[in-house]
Amino acid sequence: MSKLWGGRFTKKTDQLVEEYTASILFDKELAEEDIQGSLAHIAMLAKCGIVPEADAERIKEGLLKVQERIQRGEMEFSVSDEDIHMNIEKALIEEIGPVGGKLHTGRSRNDQVATDMHLYLRRRVVEFVGMLHKLQLALLEQAKANLDTIIPGYTHLQRAQPILFAHHLMAYVSMFQRDIERLQDSYKRINVLPLGAGALAGTTFPIDRHFVAEQLGFDRVYENSLDAVSDRDFIIEFLSNASMIMMHLSRLCEEMVMWSSTEFAFIELDDAFCTGSSIMPQKKNPDVAELVRGKTGRVYGNLVGLLTVLKALPLAYNKDMQEDKEGMFDTVKTLQGALQLFAPMVSTMKVNRDRMRQAVNQDFSNATDIADYLVNKGIPFRQAHEIIGKTVLYCIQNKKYLLDLTLDEFKQFSELFDDNIYQVLQPEQVVNARNVYGGTASEQVAQAIGRAEEAVGKT
Ligand code: ARG
Repeated sequence: MSKLWGGRFTKKTDQLVEEYTASILFDKELAEEDIQGSLAHIAMLAKCGIVPEADAERIKEGLLKVQERIQRGEMEFSVSDEDIHMNIEKALIEEIGPVGGKLHTGRSRNDQVATDMHLYLRRRVVEFVGMLHKLQLALLEQAKANLDTIIPGYTHLQRAQPILFAHHLMAYVSMFQRDIERLQDSYKRINVLPLGAGALAGTTFPIDRHFVAEQLGFDRVYENSLDAVSDRDFIIEFLSNASMIMMHLSRLCEEMVMWSSTEFAFIELDDAFCTGSSIMPQKKNPDVAELVRGKTGRVYGNLVGLLTVLKALPLAYNKDMQEDKEGMFDTVKTLQGALQLFAPMVSTMKVNRDRMRQAVNQDFSNATDIADYLVNKGIPFRQAHEIIGKTVLYCIQNKKYLLDLTLDEFKQFSELFDDNIYQVLQPEQVVNARNVYGGTASEQVAQAIGRAEEAVGKT
């Protein structure tokens, strides 16, 4: 059989052109969605009396046969049929004869492909919400197991104030919660039906778009036919949400890479999530964390790529828009790969509490608390800051930490120090003193875990 659109042409398509313009090598990924959309379309054509019931029935059976062939891996896709839509239509006509040609009544590949993409992303978004939930649960488990584990908290990657390790992990639970909410919000814009827009202007047939929407589980139909076939913002929004998720993952990756270095040795990643070196026998490399961090680049690239494709593109459909697919598929696969590995990597990570504790004992991250101590005794904060700055300098010059100072030494800096300063400087005390909503005190973190568990249960 020749091309489905061959009528107007007198010459065969140049073979290189065929290869260059075809999308079948990647859009065959949309086969399921394409058939799903076609089944709803033909049901509507029959219901509206546009195609006789008997023909619609044959078309439906034919589509199901094509679907089976695809599912069994028996379908041979051909570049000369350009894309998934025409490959399937051709297979249908081969299966049931010329009556198969009635399927494309009142429809264009332009509204068809947009519908396929909406169906495709709709499924993925639900999948990603589930995967993010699993990751949150893994983080919550580790947080609960580390409600009394103290680590140095950092700013500028310099030790700042001690915090609970659980508090640090819970920061990521919050980030992933926002990512989930963003995905859920985007669903409103994904779950809209473009079909019925035709090539760009609508169709002369008395179709029922709302019936198709209902069949396919869409909440709404696109208001404007030009917009329906030209819109790719729903994909850009997904790519942007995916970029944000990867950005969050890659920050945690960076911390896991650092924490598992000999210099930090705060955590040990499970052997199953690390790889070795072909030359250095001692090596255990955090490859998964590194690669998720690295693959963040391609996800950003896909976002910028599609934004750039659409920039200044006139309405309505342009072939440029076929470039929306590979980046989207790549982002879906990259995100699936990362999220699939991340939850078990977090669950199996070993936390080296002793080492974290040792780090906290050997720093000045309790300095703010002595300043606050003097403030509580009536000294203005700025003055207390100056006094403690000098105290820290004295410690550094004398190779001591604050808890090593004698009371006499403390008193050289302020007469207001007394015996209870040693209590105030204990890391547990320092952590638990930050007993404000959202703070690191164990009471607050326990409550935050409770709230997060409830939110994870709800969303
Ligand atoms: N393969 C095409 C794409 O993905 C389908 C739409 C083609 N429409 C057209 N008028 N050539 O964009």
